[in-house]
Amino acid sequence: MTQLSAAREQGRDSRADQGATATGTPGARPADHPKALYGGTGTRRVTVRDLALAKERGEKWPMLTAYDAMTASVFDEAGIPVMLVGDSMGNCHLGYETTVPVTMDEMTILASAVVRGTSRALIVGDLTFGAYQEGPVQALRSATRLIKEAGVGAVKLEGGERSLAQTEAIVRAGIPVMAHLGLTPQSVNTMGYRVQGRGDEAAHQLVRDAKAAQEAGAFAVVLELVPAEVAAEVTRSLQIPTIGIGAGPDTDAQVLVWTDMAGLTGGKVPRFTKQYADLRRVLGDAAKSFAEDVVGGAFPAEEHTFH
Ligand code: KIV
Repeated sequence: MTQLSAAREQGRDSRADQGATATGTPGARPADHPKALYGGTGTRRVTVRDLALAKERGEKWPMLTAYDAMTASVFDEAGIPVMLVGDSMGNCHLGYETTVPVTMDEMTILASAVVRGTSRALIVGDLTFGAYQEGPVQALRSATRLIKEAGVGAVKLEGGERSLAQTEAIVRAGIPVMAHLGLTPQSVNTMGYRVQGRGDEAAHQLVRDAKAAQEAGAFAVVLELVPAEVAAEVTRSLQIPTIGIGAGPDTDAQVLVWTDMAGLTGGKVPRFTKQYADLRRVLGDAAKSFAEDVVGGAFPAEEHTFH
């Protein structure tokens, strides 16, 4: 049984128990049932089953990356239902130029911080470059480490058909897998950073990859930097949710790198990103005000001083 059909079965059972449908017809719901992934009232962690049910309801949901406990706690309190401890931590947190150098040691430390900072969101950890490409045994070992040591609820890996054996092995062990297609940043050295899936053959390959990931048991598929029409076609042809980034409006969910979303990233940000705050300016202004107070003697004042 695939994760999706298992989720459906469990969903049916729990709805039958409650005398309610997933679309919210009147009936008693346990207090911890997340009525909607965003804006719901649930207090327990979101599960992959909740994501499957959201797709059935046609409900869209947001996902953000997170790399530390404090920021993750802010997003958890804001109701973000799924957080990805992405290997984008390489560029956005650790000062590397790409995601390629990120190690499973780094991933495990940051993912465990994000888990500790949250109580509701489903936390997904990335399998880093070199931690699954050797084959299913290595992939399962890396995924198991992230589940046991960091406490994440699911793992993500790049590739569809090319990562089939790895996905199957991890899912078979009871670990939920999110696939990542389109632009796969771990392949930057062969692929570059350009739109994927343009042209009939590339679009067909993307659909084949997405179906292969679903068939192997993945519970969701990230589609990065692909034409909106192709992402819509993939979304229609899958039973599992698609999560777009630079993939247009028709995917089931949207993910952004949090430092791009909040305006902390310096320099040029990708065109598909929307900046919802200007954290770089806010933090810079705060640092300058502090520095000026110290230099001018205004800090510490009497109220900050012990006698
Ligand atoms: O590592 C990451 O942040 C990602 C997202 C861009 C989907 O893979």
